[in-house]
Amino acid sequence: MRILVTGASGLLGKSLCPLLDEEKWQYWACNSKIFDITNTKMVNEIMDKISLDFIIHLAGYTNIDQAEDNPDIAYNVNQIGTRNIANIAKKHDIPILYVSTDNVFDGKADKPYKTTDATNPINVYGKSKLAGEKEIIKATKKHYILRTSWLYGAGGYVDAMLTFSNFRKEISVVDDQIGCPTSAQDLSKKIIEIIKENKPYGIYHITSSGSAGWADFTKKIFEIKKRDVAVTAIDKSDFPRPALRPHYCVLDSNNILPNWENSLSDYLLSKK
Ligand SMILES: NC(=O)c1ccc[n+]([C@@H]2O[C@H](COP(=O)([O-])OP(=O)(O)OC[C@H]3O[C@@H](n4cnc5c(N)ncnc54)[C@H](OP(=O)(O)O)[C@@H]3O)[C@@H](O)[C@H]2O)c1
Repeated sequence: MRILVTGASGLLGKSLCPLLDEEKWQYWACNSKIFDITNTKMVNEIMDKISLDFIIHLAGYTNIDQAEDNPDIAYNVNQIGTRNIANIAKKHDIPILYVSTDNVFDGKADKPYKTTDATNPINVYGKSKLAGEKEIIKATKKHYILRTSWLYGAGGYVDAMLTFSNFRKEISVVDDQIGCPTSAQDLSKKIIEIIKENKPYGIYHITSSGSAGWADFTKKIFEIKKRDVAVTAIDKSDFPRPALRPHYCVLDSNNILPNWENSLSDYLLSKK
């Protein structure tokens, strides 16, 4: 198995690549420095020269607030870059797996979003990721679009909170969303399973089971690690940010991953 992994240096890529090693699959791990997905000419030149069996496309412009000020960059990476990568999959007639987001929904629902529910992103990040989904669907039928949410793993939100707890005893958290904190490790295992089992192509919602707000999620981190930090939930109006967030962004993932509290516990207890 020869795999192109874009975005390998990101939070999810760092979790996934060791699992590809375990499978003993050959893969080309790329970041923006060695393989800029927005450089159409370079992407085509390089890809004409190598032989591939599968593409895992994780690269993205992921800063939700900065995307509001830099829509051109967000669309360039998330739409045009994705088009370039999707065209490689089409040309080589190989499957492509693209990781998308809960931000393709507007968050006005009152029950978990199904893959068939209408999308209606309310921020630039969500709009550009949805544009990326459409590029993939247009380019090839051999696609997996995995929508996920609130990923944590090495160097992410959970780790940042642990570092924070070494210095501070209280924190205010904007508690404006209900979503699914999801372990990058669990999602990575699911990606391996999808590839190995040749699952049917299409759109998947893959998050941890259950749901939480940011304040409860943060409290749970400190509780599990027995850190004495008081968490205060604050309103978004107390801490205005450039991008709107979907309020209710729970994805109906059919409980295919463990409950978020159990996975969070596993992640935290495996850390020193
Ligand atoms: N994190 C979440 O909560 C979350 C939730 C839902 C969906 N997702 C999606 O999951 C995917 C992975 O997320 P993540 O959290 O791992 O992202 P991340 O930590 O922000 O990493 C982004 C990756 O994309 C690469 N990249 C950015 N611009 C590029 C370009 N022009 N050419 C090539 N590579 C480029 C980065 O390379 P450099 O290191 O060189 O910058 C990095 O490897 C993304 O597509 C994201 O939209 C993430």
